[in-house]
Parts: sequence; C-alpha cells; structure tokens
Amino acid sequence: MSSKILQYNQPSLVGDITVPGDKSVSHRSVMFGSIAKGKTTVSGFLLGEDCLSTIDCFKQLGVMIEVDGTNVTIDSPGIDDWEEPKEVLYTGNSGTTTRLMLGILSGAKLHTVMTGDASIGKRPMRRVADPLRLMGAQIAGRENGQFTPLAIQGGKLQAIDYKMPVASAQVKSAILLAGLRAKGTTIVRESEVSRDHTERMLRQFGATIDVTDGVVTFKGGQTLTGTHVNVPGDISSAAFFLVAGAITRGSRIVLKNVGVNETRDGIIEVLQNMGAKMDISMNDENAAEPTATITIETSELIGTTIEGTIIPRLIDEIPIIALLATQAKGKTVIKDAEELKVKETNRIDAVVNELKKLGANIEATDDGMIIEGPTPLSEGSLKTYGDHRIGMMGAVAALIAQGNVELDDADCIAVSYPSFFEHVEKLI
Ligand code: S3P
Repeated sequence: MSSKILQYNQPSLVGDITVPGDKSVSHRSVMFGSIAKGKTTVSGFLLGEDCLSTIDCFKQLGVMIEVDGTNVTIDSPGIDDWEEPKEVLYTGNSGTTTRLMLGILSGAKLHTVMTGDASIGKRPMRRVADPLRLMGAQIAGRENGQFTPLAIQGGKLQAIDYKMPVASAQVKSAILLAGLRAKGTTIVRESEVSRDHTERMLRQFGATIDVTDGVVTFKGGQTLTGTHVNVPGDISSAAFFLVAGAITRGSRIVLKNVGVNETRDGIIEVLQNMGAKMDISMNDENAAEPTATITIETSELIGTTIEGTIIPRLIDEIPIIALLATQAKGKTVIKDAEELKVKETNRIDAVVNELKKLGANIEATDDGMIIEGPTPLSEGSLKTYGDHRIGMMGAVAALIAQGNVELDDADCIAVSYPSFFEHVEKLI
C-alpha cells in the first residue's frame, strides 16, 4: 500500500485511449474456458489483479492457462477431470471470483476451500450459498456460510426455480453455473435485470439458454465447447474518463472499444440526462458483446434523479457519478442503491466522506446520496478504503481540485485498471 500525491493543476484532457478489457467478461472467459474440455482462446483480457486471481484458482484445479499480453489460452481437461487442489484457493479482492466459483465448485466432484482478502472476508456469501444449498450444494463457512473461508464439497445438484431477492449478476451467475451441472431445468427470476454476460457467454460456448421478461430458463447437463472470446473494453473503467472529460476544462476524449451491453450502459443514459456533450459510434452491433467509440467533451451539466431499474445498470459507476454530480447545476438524487453498502467497501459512506473532505455538498441517505452542485473542489487527503473505484474517483477529483490531492493507497486501482495513471498522463 503506497500513498500518492496528485498534482495536476486543473489540466485539459485531450486525446484517445483504448479502454482495458471488461472485468466481468474476463473472469467469465477463464471460468467457462476451464469448465469446457479442450482449448479456449481469449483476446483483450484484463490483466487486473481480480482476473489474475481467477486464473490462479483454475491453475490450482489443473487447468493449463497461458497469458501472453492480453491474449490468454486455456487448455482444460474439463470440469469432470479437474484436480482436487492441495491448497486453499485464494480469490484476493474479487467478489466475482468468490461468488461464481462457489456455484461452479458446488457441481464439481472435489473438496475445495476458498478465501480472499480482508474486504472479501466481510462480504455476504449467503446470498449465493443459500440458493446453492437449495440445489443440494454442501457449503460451510463462518456464520453458517455467510463469510469466507468457505469449504465446498462438490457433488450432485438439482435444478431450482429461484426468485432473486436482490438484483445481482453474481448471484444469478452462480446459480446458472451450478444449474449447468444440475438435474432438471433451472429457472432464475429477476425483478430488475442485472448484467447478462453469463447468459451471453453460455451461448458462445454452445449452450442453449432462454431469457424472456426477466426469467432465465436453463436446462442442466449441457456441455460447453471451447471457443474464442473477444473481451470488450470495460464501460466501468471508461466511466472514469467519461466523467473526467465532461468536468475538466477544454477537454475532448475519444474512448475506443467501450463495451455497451445494454445491461451495463446506465452511465451513458445518466450523462445524456445531465446534458453531457457526447457522441457514440457503434462498432459491430452483432458481436456477442457490442462495443462503441465514445467521444466526450467538456459539458455544462445539470442535476438528475437516478433510481429504480437503472441502478443495476450502473451500480459500479455510482462513485464516479457522485463526483460528476458535484459539478452539475442543481440537485442530484441517487436512490434504491443500498447494494453499495456491500461492495468492496461501504461505497455510500466512502463516497460521501471522501468527497466532503474536498468541499462537496453531499449527504448520505439510507439507500443512496443527495448531491447539490456545482461546487469547486479543494485540496485534501483521501482514503481509498482499498477500493479501486473509490481510488479512481479520488484521482479524477484531483484533476479538477484547486491544489493537491493525496490518495492513501493508489495501488488498489490495479484491481481493475492497472494502466489508469498512464492513461491520465497520456491525456494531459
Ligand atoms: C459483477 C456483478 C456486480 C458488480 C461487480 C461485477 C459480475 O455485482 O458490482 O463489480 O461480474 O457479475 P453484484 O452481483 O453483487 O451486483
């Protein structure tokens, strides 16, 4: 953990950047490629720490994985022939690794133990363990399976019909990945649609899955066939530069290869509602995960209300949206976002505490926050809470702050965006 003093002197940001690979899709490419027997190739893989944790876990299960730049080759004996790992599987800071692996390992005939870092140790796992137990999974963990370390005795599973109590792609995906190995047809009912990368990738690997009006229907016992996965750029990473371009003076940023899956693009809708000057040019609309080139310019922004079904489509972008709102005229209200409390840190408290230190007019509510703008931001010393997205929010705030901003731990940004500061420097 090393602190970093950011001395930017309110620069203009001009130029183009190619956004690094999507974290959610990168994780899944390794997971699906490891379940399938044979070879899978991946391009555009995110070399963030979270995705490297996923690779390490599958290597311990006997899967051959080679990384060459952002290309990854996976050669697997298939889930039925994985090796029982001799050591604990370490998932680092990654909730997606921990929760999706729980679903996968429940249906693999092995005994495994998983644990992660201090943040993972505080994140709720019963939201995944409970439905998996209904399928017959044997999972043990602290507080009856709520917290890591988790021990899993994989075995036979039955399909379930499950109504999701929270909008969570991690929970949905864990159930579907267990459902792949279960007897019968698994049904997952979502009241608010969460990111659908698992559903899309199951089709890419040759499976049949139906999604109609928020109801996912998936027959167990299907086999996955290795394939090529092209990972789109991560819109959640692009979001930091979309906001940076809109709030810094004299800026124009071109973001290439941004994944614009409609279950992830809430940030675009919010920027449009707030009056951002933005142009979106689609690349291949028929790709498994469509991408676009997005150009953003310095903008006059107005406050907005963000609530309801858009929340899962931008849940990871709320820290940077809060910063955006500090520069918009009028009130921005963010509601229905209590899930922020169980992310890498409590992101309602973290965002409000840290932006307040820079002089923002922001208050926490039970399920979100209220921001009044525009407010010039001052210098200050910020905590990241070890959370990559809080770190990047602080770094973007430093671009408009009058004075220096210190981050207590800038290294945590490597969880999802190792080249973040290089990209900032490229645009200055
Ligand atoms: C993710 C789902 C979301 C998101 C996380 C990645 C995924 O979490 O916040 O960064 O890859 O499925 P939840 O499922 O908890 O909403």
